[in-house]
Amino acid sequence: MGRQCNELHVRFIRKNSLKILDLESYPGNSPGDVPQAGFLSAGRVFVRIAVTGASGQLGSELCQQLGSQAIPLTRHELDLSEGNRIISTLKASHADIVINCAAYTQVDLAEQDFATCQRINGDAVRSLAAYCSESNAKLIQISTDYVFDGQGLSGGSGGYRESDVPSPRGIYAQSKRQGEVMAMACPRYVIVRTCGLYGHSPNKPNFVRTMRRLGRERSELHVVDDQYCGPTYVPHLARAIRYLLERDAVGIFHVVNRGGCSWFDFARRIMEFEGLPTKVHPITTQAFGAKAPRPTNSLLCTDLYHSLGGPPMPTWDEALQEYFSKESQSLS
Ligand SMILES: NC(=O)c1ccc[n+]([C@@H]2O[C@H](COP(=O)([O-])OP(=O)(O)OC[C@H]3O[C@@H](n4cnc5c(N)ncnc54)[C@H](OP(=O)(O)O)[C@@H]3O)[C@@H](O)[C@H]2O)c1
Repeated sequence: MGRQCNELHVRFIRKNSLKILDLESYPGNSPGDVPQAGFLSAGRVFVRIAVTGASGQLGSELCQQLGSQAIPLTRHELDLSEGNRIISTLKASHADIVINCAAYTQVDLAEQDFATCQRINGDAVRSLAAYCSESNAKLIQISTDYVFDGQGLSGGSGGYRESDVPSPRGIYAQSKRQGEVMAMACPRYVIVRTCGLYGHSPNKPNFVRTMRRLGRERSELHVVDDQYCGPTYVPHLARAIRYLLERDAVGIFHVVNRGGCSWFDFARRIMEFEGLPTKVHPITTQAFGAKAPRPTNSLLCTDLYHSLGGPPMPTWDEALQEYFSKESQSLS
């Protein structure tokens, strides 16, 4: 009975286009196997997708886009600094996929808080990978352009590729690289490197929100103009991550909004979209004097992601326009 029923399920799934996950490419789901992951409902495959850092910018957006498949794990439900509870919490969730959006993200503070940063961004990922390896679950680890020192890119190079050798500088960057290495211990890992995230999540700081606030408060601003990167709109990143899940992709992927700009260019465009007369002046990284080192040019090349045929990542300028248009819609 069990086998017949499962074969029926598999045929049924093949006839219906899957919006969330392609079951045929999902391990353990060859014809006649019991689908190990998820459950079936109305012709769609549901997998349980644990999202850590669920109240963060990316975590909250992913939970919203994934809908009922998401198991949102805020810091309250899963504190990554409590290493001994990580595996038991995930076991209780029966997650088939873990997307780790939780991180110690205070880059400058990390310089004086090495232990906490390392515990959350590095050590905890070992436990996430251990759970996933044991349960044949997939681990999606969100990482950063900061794993590169940003010294080696020329202007027209198209950005760092996934095969480029990381060279992180600073405590945050090193801890995130450590997290990548830990994630790779899981047979079914995906590392998504991204950059300069901003979205609509109301309680989380980001560059765009800070600039909008400062632009309203001040008539002049000084913004660093010798650091280049690809600021990325969180809803676009979340959509790309969902696509990587659908494709059952494995490995490292760079996902950022296309093009690239300096923080100064970005700030000026924010003022334009916001309709503020605030004057933005360029300053150097050295003059700004942040505690942690930052990459000079950390543009990431997205060719590998785009070669899979996923939804194209808009340019950073198009993305910013979309952000402002959504913000104004939510006000009206
Ligand atoms: N933000 C960027 O510009 C940027 C750039 C490149 C890469 N990334 C990476 O992208 C990912 C998502 O970033 P984001 O912008 O969404 O960050 P975010 O808004 O700062 O969210 C981070 C989340 O991690 C949670 N968290 C912190 N410490 C935790 C702990 N000990 N246990 C469990 N959860 C904990 C926070 O919980 P609370 O809400 O309780 O504080 C928060 O929800 C991170 O891996 C980050 O390193 C971010």
